[in-house]
Amino acid sequence: MCGIVGYIGKQKASPILINGLLRLEYRGYDSAGIATIEQNGITIMKDKGRVANLYELDGINNLTGTVGIAHTRWATHGKPSKENSHPHMDNSNSFAVVHNGIIENYHELRSFLESKGYSFYSDTDTETIPNLIHYYYEKDLEASDNKFLAAVKKACDDLKGSFAIEVLCKDDPEHMVVVRQDSPLVIGKGMGENYISSDIPAILSFTKDFYLLNDREFAYLSKDKIQFYNNDLKLIVKEVKSIEWNAASAEKDGYDDFMLKEIYEQPVAIRETIGAKLNEKKIVFDDFSLSKEYLKTIQKIYIIACGTAMHAGLGTRNTFEQLCNIPVEVEVASEFRYKNPLVSEKTLCIFISQSGETADTIAALKLAKSKGARTIAISNVIGSSITREADYCIYTHAGPEIAVASTKAYTSQLTLLNILAIYFAELLETSEENILTELKQELLNLPKKVELALKDVASIKSFADMVYKESDMFFLGRGIDYAVALEASLKLKEISYIHSDAYAAGELKHGPIALIENGVTVISIMTNPDLVEKTISNVQEVITRGAKTLIVTNQPIEDKRFDQVIHIPETSTLLSPILSIIPLQLFSYYISKEKGLDVDKPRNLAKSVTVE
Ligand code: G6P
Repeated sequence: MCGIVGYIGKQKASPILINGLLRLEYRGYDSAGIATIEQNGITIMKDKGRVANLYELDGINNLTGTVGIAHTRWATHGKPSKENSHPHMDNSNSFAVVHNGIIENYHELRSFLESKGYSFYSDTDTETIPNLIHYYYEKDLEASDNKFLAAVKKACDDLKGSFAIEVLCKDDPEHMVVVRQDSPLVIGKGMGENYISSDIPAILSFTKDFYLLNDREFAYLSKDKIQFYNNDLKLIVKEVKSIEWNAASAEKDGYDDFMLKEIYEQPVAIRETIGAKLNEKKIVFDDFSLSKEYLKTIQKIYIIACGTAMHAGLGTRNTFEQLCNIPVEVEVASEFRYKNPLVSEKTLCIFISQSGETADTIAALKLAKSKGARTIAISNVIGSSITREADYCIYTHAGPEIAVASTKAYTSQLTLLNILAIYFAELLETSEENILTELKQELLNLPKKVELALKDVASIKSFADMVYKESDMFFLGRGIDYAVALEASLKLKEISYIHSDAYAAGELKHGPIALIENGVTVISIMTNPDLVEKTISNVQEVITRGAKTLIVTNQPIEDKRFDQVIHIPETSTLLSPILSIIPLQLFSYYISKEKGLDVDKPRNLAKSVTVE
């Protein structure tokens, strides 16, 4: 949601900025724009629509400035239009600002500025920021050493809400100021040039060295120097972090879409996530440990996340409960944060977020901490906000995930959560050793089994061809297969725009069966040998009513009644989601392709939901 790019160096900024915006497209947006510092002041080029449209704007090729900021906007205040697109300038054209986030008190700020004679030309909350900066710049900062930075800081003191902002100043053309509060922003360090972005992949081809700003920290950048300040404008020292991702991992690499590439990257992502954690010895995490004494005090585990990450929690709840004998609740972060949850120092809260920037998940984490719970963040992005808020942090190693619909991050999260549950069980001694050894061995076998699960594309494609014009689909499963049904249904909705619902198979007769009629598609997941017969009976009921059926199973089912049966390799029931989701990811992908849709950037969705 909204993307920010910045460049300060010796090269022409505009192509670098546009290129960066193209790489942030997956975050979701409806308009785009850039501002550069030219000989005669700040020049802005912007419009609604795709980033590529910027190339068509009159005069864009004449920009020569080497300092610039850029933005993709996801409309919140005011419709998508040229006027509402970023960057925004103050009335005197002295400051240009791009902003990611929401200024909650913008009405108040706008009235205040109007009373001081400022006019507004957009409906956005953002336009208050450059004007507020200008107000302070002109007002009372004569004594300050760095008027530009001091004015930005004064303006930020007045802002309520979330923001990551970049600011250009006409009078200080060789610098820019950036600051963040509850919105993502990273600074890439180059040689005689520096880069800013909402996330790492957009500037990975330029540098692997990053600075991560904490809330209300300011950076004052030139091409050769970056100075960091705390909220009192005292100079602070920040460490540079080197990121192991390579630039090629953020490219399509011959695949038609990022989603397909990421589906096929799952064996590697799982292998990397397992890393050196599993062997015949007890599990050890490199940068994280909990004591047996502490774990023994835990009465409940909460797993909290949004979207697919929440489904990873549902897919591993059983592992924690069965192996560790601790009750687990899985909760949607946006619900948890507003429900006054029963959390105490005897609760362990695990937060999962691929991006590490999801606003609801971060707010839920802050709430849990304030109630005394210990918190663990599981994220795919080193140094992301959530990892800096939590007491402990563990990483999935899926590499950059660009497609909006999450695939390799999900299976990596499932893998890591299973490892975490085994780690707890080893410490607590709540499970028999042979059960844990077998599970660890099965985890090590998973990358190979995922490779096998990726092989049967023809049958998946042929079922997708048969049903892609349908408007309703249902996913059924029992136990852990129900968790996979929820994720498969979400995947289909996200990228095919087909209405779909997931039900615990036993619930069919309590309502959804009323919707089954000729031609409705019903997809069932059956991996638990003890429950297969029961789910088959449910599927029989929908076949009788004319449904088209697809079965995903690791059981020896060969039944002519079903339209298609997809066989996946066998594994422990607890780990089966990591395999059973694979054909269903491919199914959604091929449906979306058949419908001619944009698989990687589905309508209305954002990869990183950084506002509420
Ligand atoms: C958005 C994305 C989903 C993702 C969810 C949580 O809705 O479109 O794919 O699962 O956010 O994202 P996170 O980065 O916190 O895992």
